Amino acid sequence: MGCGIHQEVEPIDGAPSVFEWAGGTAAFTRLTRLFYEKYVPADPLLGPLFADMATDHPERVAAWLSETFGGPTTYSEQYGGYDWMVSQHMGKALTEAQRARWVQLMTRCADETGLPADPEFRAAFVSYLEWGSRIALENSSPGATPPQHLPVPRWSWVSNATPGSRVSALAPQSEEALVNMPTADERLSFEQHIRPLFREQDRASMTFAFDLWSYDDVGRHGDAILERLQEGNMPCDGAWPRERVETFERWLSAGKPA
Ligand code: HEM
Repeated sequence: MGCGIHQEVEPIDGAPSVFEWAGGTAAFTRLTRLFYEKYVPADPLLGPLFADMATDHPERVAAWLSETFGGPTTYSEQYGGYDWMVSQHMGKALTEAQRARWVQLMTRCADETGLPADPEFRAAFVSYLEWGSRIALENSSPGATPPQHLPVPRWSWVSNATPGSRVSALAPQSEEALVNMPTADERLSFEQHIRPLFREQDRASMTFAFDLWSYDDVGRHGDAILERLQEGNMPCDGAWPRERVETFERWLSAGKPA
């Protein structure tokens, strides 16, 4: 078990916690109630395992998930923390089939209770369910000796895939896609042909250095901008098509007409 997981996770710049993005304790409680009150009792693999669970079991697991995903530390403070949770799995000799069903039904309940369905949230959510459930399985094996006295884990976004960290293919098309490319002999101008090539998000990601909507700035840094466009590492979410780079180059060669 990676000890790093149990340390406080540094929040990723400006990103909400997975807990906040999910909709907080209320969202996790809706999830666990549906899971333990509807799906588990009806399931032949899981039903018998949870037949004697406490009536507040759904709230307790919701508190665990909330804390793990960066929410309040209620499970540690009021419900017995990591040691109690581990003790509840020990000696249960869970099977892989039970584990897989547990994850499958949790995921179904996430859909049914309307937890966010975006790729970033589901990557973080499901990766934790897979990780945690495999540890539960391990801890439940006869003779297992789980490490003791660890804090409740903290789980964050996977591989820095935070909400809004990528441009969605379904995002409304920006002006960039609507740019009318000049004809080969058309006289170029910054206002008409160059500025519209830069989207708001390109401008925002470069404001630390210069303003891509400013004639003076783009003129002054023209060669450096061209170099990066040609290398394809600007914009950072995907290279420009060749004609667009050539238009920029032609504008520079034409003496940067305003
Ligand atoms: C990420 C995965 C998992 C998490 C976060 C989790 C969480 C918990 C927590 C917090 C408790 C203790 C509740 C309390 O009394 O405070 C618990 C108990 C338990 N868990 Fe898990 N669990 C996971 C995976 C599994 C799996 C895969 C199974 C079986 C298929 C399982 C079966 C049980 C059982 C049987 C109990 C005891 C229920 C009772 O009180 O009778 N758990 N779990």
